[in-house]
Amino acid sequence: MNKFKEDFVWGVAASSYQIEGAAEQDGRSDSVWDMFCREPGKIKDSSDGRIACDHYNRYQDDVRMIADLNVKAYRLSTAWPRIIPDGYGKVNEKGLAFYDKLVDELLAAGVTPWITLYHWDMPTCLFDQGGWLNPASSDWFADYARVVTERLSDRVTNWFTLNEPQVFLGLGHQVGEHAPGLQLPFEKVLLASHNSLLAHGKAVQVMRAVAKQPLKIGAAPVGVVNFPTSDDPALVEAARKSTFSVSGVNCFSNTWYADPMLKGEYPEDGLELFEHYLPKFGADDMKQICQPLDMYAANIYAGTPLEFNDKGEVVTAESSLLGCGRTTMDWNVTPDCLYWGPKFLYERYGLPIVVTENGLASCDWVHVNGEVDDAGRVDYVQRHLRALRQAAADGTDVAGYFYWSIMDNFEWGFGYQQRFGMVHVDYHTQKRTPKRSAYWYRDVINSNGEIL
Ligand code: FCB
Repeated sequence: MNKFKEDFVWGVAASSYQIEGAAEQDGRSDSVWDMFCREPGKIKDSSDGRIACDHYNRYQDDVRMIADLNVKAYRLSTAWPRIIPDGYGKVNEKGLAFYDKLVDELLAAGVTPWITLYHWDMPTCLFDQGGWLNPASSDWFADYARVVTERLSDRVTNWFTLNEPQVFLGLGHQVGEHAPGLQLPFEKVLLASHNSLLAHGKAVQVMRAVAKQPLKIGAAPVGVVNFPTSDDPALVEAARKSTFSVSGVNCFSNTWYADPMLKGEYPEDGLELFEHYLPKFGADDMKQICQPLDMYAANIYAGTPLEFNDKGEVVTAESSLLGCGRTTMDWNVTPDCLYWGPKFLYERYGLPIVVTENGLASCDWVHVNGEVDDAGRVDYVQRHLRALRQAAADGTDVAGYFYWSIMDNFEWGFGYQQRFGMVHVDYHTQKRTPKRSAYWYRDVINSNGEIL
């Protein structure tokens, strides 16, 4: 099979804080990322998202640009501080209206909007009340989810609750490299984690209750992928096991989030490892968290190759990484992650897989001839999509792929130095220049993956 299935979703992704700018426009309140960026030394180039790609004011042009590339779906996130500036309570009509217009614009251009409700920009006023540590946080989030769903679900079918809990909890609450910049003791991190899982579950329930049509709902966690470097069944099994293990006192696993969401229980190994840090859970919390979902979304950029050493222990296959491609984020280029990650996740959770993020940052600038020739990105995406297509051919139900990102944007702690876009952004002029990869991706979409 050298094509994806007919209804395969070809998309691109971005998020509110990373592209919108317009930080103080139309009643938007401060988010934890605004707050974090103001702290000296937190962002590599001392920048922030106050202007970013000014997408808030340029959304019509941006939608046209997406449509011109023949991209079928656009994953955007709604900004909580725009829609409910006080975090809960009063709705800011102007903020909500922006997404209303954006959705209409996309649909008119033939692009299907997919919405993520939380891509990390919590209103600062909620952080001041404890943020994810506050037991009320799950209700705040569910209420915000209700407001957005009531307004947009007549036109939007595909929704995600939380983007990458691993990252906003791990980097944001344990390591301190992301907003809100906390370095909490692990029991507090687990409390924030539990509350955000509750937020997911309560949001799903309220969304289904108020939706104007049946919705397809998922979450968009990081896909942690450990993959085998050969077909040796014992190695495949070891890779699967380690992909679904909780192995460190940190936030980076699949199962700590996905098992509660989809199986209604925390994984045994995590409960053992975290024994001394576990918060007290409410009696019916797991019932709240575990709600039927329609897809398993995963953000997968790279994976860890595994092999057996001389003693028969499974270890990172350092030899296969020797001299391997690396992106400007210093991430390894390991295309097999998009074969094994979706396969393992599909086998464990049984839901169609949507790759909600995959991509790379590279050193792109506009050349003297006015073009941006990002050959590395073409190669990266080609290799990863080939792996994904092979997974589909071998029986994994792969529903879609969203390239991260449609355009260069504010890459969190790295500021504007890391360029993930298929479209180059000149931050002085806001000029957009599609890179070679964008035109190539258009051709891939037009062939439904056949030319890969
Ligand atoms: C993911 C984030 C996304 C972007 C990419 C590069 O962790 O979800 O916002 O920063 O990484």
